[in-house]
Amino acid sequence: MIQVSRDQTVEIRLKINGKVYQERVEPRKLLSDFLREDCGLSGTHVGCEHGVCGACTVLVNGSAVRSCLMFAVQAADTEIMTVEGLAADNRPHPLQQAFTECHALQCGFCTPGILMSSVEFLNSHSDPTTDQIKEMLSGHLCRCTGYKGIIEAIEKVASRQKEGEKIDGSGDTV
Ligand code: FES
Ligand code: FES
Repeated sequence: MIQVSRDQTVEIRLKINGKVYQERVEPRKLLSDFLREDCGLSGTHVGCEHGVCGACTVLVNGSAVRSCLMFAVQAADTEIMTVEGLAADNRPHPLQQAFTECHALQCGFCTPGILMSSVEFLNSHSDPTTDQIKEMLSGHLCRCTGYKGIIEAIEKVASRQKEGEKIDGSGDTV
């Protein structure tokens, strides 16, 4: 284990949205703050800062993680995807498209975190029930929408997936 004093910084190297970042960070810096302040990826929102609202969710090695509950140094040598990594070739990710079509966002504060959890969820649930979607969303707070449009949007993408349209984590349909 690396021993560092409070004022020291540690060099970390990781891949975010396919790009390699090598930065020096304070050991106590949260991953959410690192993404926003050091990497300029402010699409990851910070709400409660203690693991309750889900707004800061990103994918770390493919798993949905609350970035306010992880130190940046713990993310060394991982691959991270943030909401900025979803759209590809100037096309929105199918989930982003469906959120627009189903009016699944209003202020949009919760949206990046819900999108990232939904990507992971749909990767492991090819034919989810509405109850499973609601269970997944139980880790996310949305103050605006009432969740109806969000559920519809995820169901829409799931049904396209079921029809054989494979959706990968980078937003491509293949
Ligand atoms: S800001 Fe991380 S869970 Fe709320
Ligand atoms: S759209 Fe405003 S908090 Fe969800």
